[in-house]
Amino acid sequence: MTDQRSLTLNENSELVCELPILSGTTGPDVIDIETLYKQTGMFTFDPGFTSTASCRSNITYIDGEAGILLYRGYPIEQLAEKCTFLEVCYLLLNGELPTPEELKEFQGTITMHTMVHDQLTNFFKGFRRDAHPMAIMVGIVGALSAFYHDALDIKSKKHRDISAIRLLAKVPTIAAMCHKYSTGLPFMYPQNQLSYVENFMRMMLATPCDDFVPNPVLVRALDRILILHADHEQNASTSTVRLAGSSGANPYACITAGIACLWGAAHGGANEAVLNMLIKIGDVSNIQTYIAKAKDKNDPFRLMGFGHRVYKNHDPRAKLMRATCHEVLNELGLHDDPIFKLALELERIALEDSYFIDKKLYPNVDFYSGIVFHALGIPTNMFTAMFAMGRTVGWIAHWDEMIADPEQRIGRPRQLYTGSTRRDVPADHGQTKA
Ligand code: CMC
Repeated sequence: MTDQRSLTLNENSELVCELPILSGTTGPDVIDIETLYKQTGMFTFDPGFTSTASCRSNITYIDGEAGILLYRGYPIEQLAEKCTFLEVCYLLLNGELPTPEELKEFQGTITMHTMVHDQLTNFFKGFRRDAHPMAIMVGIVGALSAFYHDALDIKSKKHRDISAIRLLAKVPTIAAMCHKYSTGLPFMYPQNQLSYVENFMRMMLATPCDDFVPNPVLVRALDRILILHADHEQNASTSTVRLAGSSGANPYACITAGIACLWGAAHGGANEAVLNMLIKIGDVSNIQTYIAKAKDKNDPFRLMGFGHRVYKNHDPRAKLMRATCHEVLNELGLHDDPIFKLALELERIALEDSYFIDKKLYPNVDFYSGIVFHALGIPTNMFTAMFAMGRTVGWIAHWDEMIADPEQRIGRPRQLYTGSTRRDVPADHGQTKA
């Protein structure tokens, strides 16, 4: 959307340039700087993209000051309470919640694609047995384009939809296989009579000797966790997927780029880092020491699971995650879990500390997710893979939106060059004898 307003830049009362101001359906207006270089010969400088909108999008909206998160206009709280993860997937991909018939068909199609090509299992053998599951996942998801190249015409909506279904259906199978491989256990095949989450839990937790009996409370909790992770507008991994896709790369390559980016501790890797941090803190009596470390400018330690680039009041996902954590621990009779108690106390102390108050640092989605995963029997090195499983649908929705966008061009940021100016290689270079 655009309106008649514009930003005028003047120097010495001379008009330097005029930039249109664009409005979305909600949220701050944006200054359209597309012609800035043409008009002024200057670029903008915005490391970390703190003030830059990189695209138009109608998928997800965040108001970081008010702690609001909407998928296609629906508040995350309502979706987490009233919908299943697959309904949310349908919503993110298609823009509307499915009717019962649409959901049935969608669920059926996903179920039919959960198995991976059997030759793909050979790939696993190339990895060290003790490799991190995320390292394996990056390799295996990337390898999918070598197996499903019958639908890689990204200009075809039909091909894009087939790839979306394949990714959504196969990523949980691959995630579970990564875990089984890294622990030396046999792969478990998916079973068509199980739901999306039950299937994943069984592939992850069962063995040929010991089957998985679904507990509805735990299945619902994991389903909700996937909903909370499903999308988060232009975060680092989604922007990575968009940038990779802007060159015309295939969807499997793009989602792999997203998984690789997510792995970092400042992003999806934080859930693993939180649990490791809580274990290291060990006891309530040590909290103050770690709070002091987090506040010390000369100490690289950060309170993992705290802070967010966009949320400056509260992360609505963290509130829902905290409630889910209570639910799961109660169901499992773990309400006295020492790690959970430690987390609650750490949160309380940090939220009363002026450092965290002044910098508007609140618990984020990752603060409690690790405790829930741990209680569900998911090993720590699989936490970020769980995040990737939830986020895959968001990545696909953004990739698809970008490819379909007539304004889409290859992403190509500019830079402020600070290196050496032009110089010549000395004429005698390489001629000196040792
Ligand atoms: N502990 C201690 N100090 C912090 C923390 C923290 N967790 N987070 C930010 N700060 C301080 C930081 O030192 C800086 O202080 P100063 O202004 O004095 O230099 C100030 O707060 C602003 O931090 P920033 O790094 O400039 O903020 P950012 O927006 O670039 O980073 C963040 C956001 C999430 C990377 C950061 O808060 C962080 O590293 N948090 C811990 C990792 C974490 O939990 N990540 C998960 C994010 S939510 C899941 C997801 O969507 O990926």
